[in-house]
Amino acid sequence: MAAPHEPSLSAADLGTLETMAADLAREAGRLIVDERPSGLGVAATKSSRTDVVTVMDTRSEDLLRERIAARRPDDGILGEEGDSIEGSSGITWVLDPIDGTVNYLYDIPQYAVSVAACVGDTSTPGAWRPVAGAVYHPVLGEMFHARAGSGAFLRAPSGVHALAVSNVTDLDDALLGTGFGYDADKRGRQGELVARVLPRVRDIRRAGSAALDLCAVAAGRLDVYYESGLNPWDLAAGRLVVEEAGGVVVGPGGAAPTDVLVVAGPTALVTRVQQLIE
Ligand code: IPD
Repeated sequence: MAAPHEPSLSAADLGTLETMAADLAREAGRLIVDERPSGLGVAATKSSRTDVVTVMDTRSEDLLRERIAARRPDDGILGEEGDSIEGSSGITWVLDPIDGTVNYLYDIPQYAVSVAACVGDTSTPGAWRPVAGAVYHPVLGEMFHARAGSGAFLRAPSGVHALAVSNVTDLDDALLGTGFGYDADKRGRQGELVARVLPRVRDIRRAGSAALDLCAVAAGRLDVYYESGLNPWDLAAGRLVVEEAGGVVVGPGGAAPTDVLVVAGPTALVTRVQQLIE
């Protein structure tokens, strides 16, 4: 596929994309809470028996796709639960209709809808970047959002807060977040890595939603987050929220984040975590 052209986006364009990302994430977030069926079960599995889809993942993504098709029919779409749509505008919406699906299945209130407008080639790891995005935690009513160059914000019942990553620099003082993929072999390697990292840091959390983990880093609720095996939809909006909160999000060797590795946080800590795990 030819690399998509990069559109020139004014501050007003970015603002429009950010507002749309937040509107979409909020509407889908309300849907998954308000219309969650009692006795919710697994509708299908994907890469492995543990990689589940519920009926609400599909309904949430259908809603997001319908809204994008109606409002911006020339944009592309890359979503967790459906086929990719190539657009002609140079913008691709990267969608996670429920990030934290296993939490959602078990009714653990730590899941989100993640919506990001991206430029570049979203089918190639490391070849795209988000320019506007939102992650909505529907149970807490927390909306994390950002657009390129304008800072990151949390809109919560308590008010609007500008976000900033933590200023921790030493690993000993760092609270890390991480996650595990769905492939058994990969999980074995991720477990070995945790065993190596855990004695060196304050503690580790595995909360079950990469998008919310990234937003937690942006809000200073975690010092660093790392994971291998993330998909673009887990990463896209949260990555921008971290970057706009003054952090960095890197991949192997400090290059762009990919499915191989994502490390997010304040620069000094990210470098230390990378040295420890790479
Ligand atoms: C998963 C979550 C989890 C992370 C996995 C992701 P899903 O996304 O973000 O925290 O560790 O790598 O696949 O399947 O709930 O959308």
